[in-house]
Amino acid sequence: MTRPAVFVARRIPTGVVDLLRQACEVDVHDGPADLPRDTLFARLAGKAGLLSVLTTRVDRDLLAAAPDLRVVANIAVGHDNIDLAAAAERGVVVTNTPDVLTEAVADLTYALVLAATRRVVEGDRLVRAGGWRGWSLDFMLGMELRGKLLGIVGLGRIGRAVAARAPGFGLQVAFADVGDRDGRDGPGSDGAVAPVPAWQRLSFDELLHASDIVTVHVPLTPATRHLVDQRALARMKRSAYLVNTSRGPVVDEAALAWALREHLIAGAALDVYEREPQVHPDLLGLDNVVLAPHLGSATRETRTAMAELAARNVLAVLDGRPPLTPVTQT
Ligand code: GLV
Repeated sequence: MTRPAVFVARRIPTGVVDLLRQACEVDVHDGPADLPRDTLFARLAGKAGLLSVLTTRVDRDLLAAAPDLRVVANIAVGHDNIDLAAAAERGVVVTNTPDVLTEAVADLTYALVLAATRRVVEGDRLVRAGGWRGWSLDFMLGMELRGKLLGIVGLGRIGRAVAARAPGFGLQVAFADVGDRDGRDGPGSDGAVAPVPAWQRLSFDELLHASDIVTVHVPLTPATRHLVDQRALARMKRSAYLVNTSRGPVVDEAALAWALREHLIAGAALDVYEREPQVHPDLLGLDNVVLAPHLGSATRETRTAMAELAARNVLAVLDGRPPLTPVTQT
């Protein structure tokens, strides 16, 4: 019997390639950037499985170029790069990697909260530029977290993990459940629905108005694109901070640059952008925004677990078993 062929769109740990090789012929694109589309399409011919990443656009054209495809396993929890309807029409199973990256993204969220509120990156730039003149009582003051209100937009797995860390910093928690309709608020892969403790539930507008830090944890959908726009930013406190570790297009970058420039909010920290790896040029010159290069899940442990989960999804489907973490169309 011939073994099914699988294409891996980006470099993954060799242990995970070996896992795939136990049952499949494996073709790995080992480069640091995406393949040009025509090369990708050519490499996909005859493949039954694809391990994609969030920059792999899995659309109708790609699916047409890979008629033997049975499973697309995205190495990401987000799946806005995949046309789910087109995949469903062709009977292609789509999977993602929930749960395994939750803690890493929640940690990175706090790295950004602290970097923005305590001006860590701005301070680093000053020191490197030789601009530090020594300690003084009122030098580079930031905002203390204790007693402040952390407003979490989207209380799925990652939003909950962010909320769970809040007491350690003395933060109060409020949340708004906005457009989060892809199962992130549903059970985790263990089937359990975490209880919502005594966190204050607010409407999105109330949350914007009341929070000292607004942190965004929703998937990118038509309902959440530019959820944080000029109007939303204008509702925030002048002393407040915005953090985005979800998907770039959830925040209107031009509007954010305007709000930061006009000091309508105190600061922001972004891990994701509307047109990665490009960043809106107006943000680049501002001191009151921290810009991270999409590092949310970027720990050795988590990225390995994500690749392995994607591989296990491919192996399951190609073996005729149900996928571990399917994405279902809503
Ligand atoms: C990363 O951004 C992911 O969706 O996994």
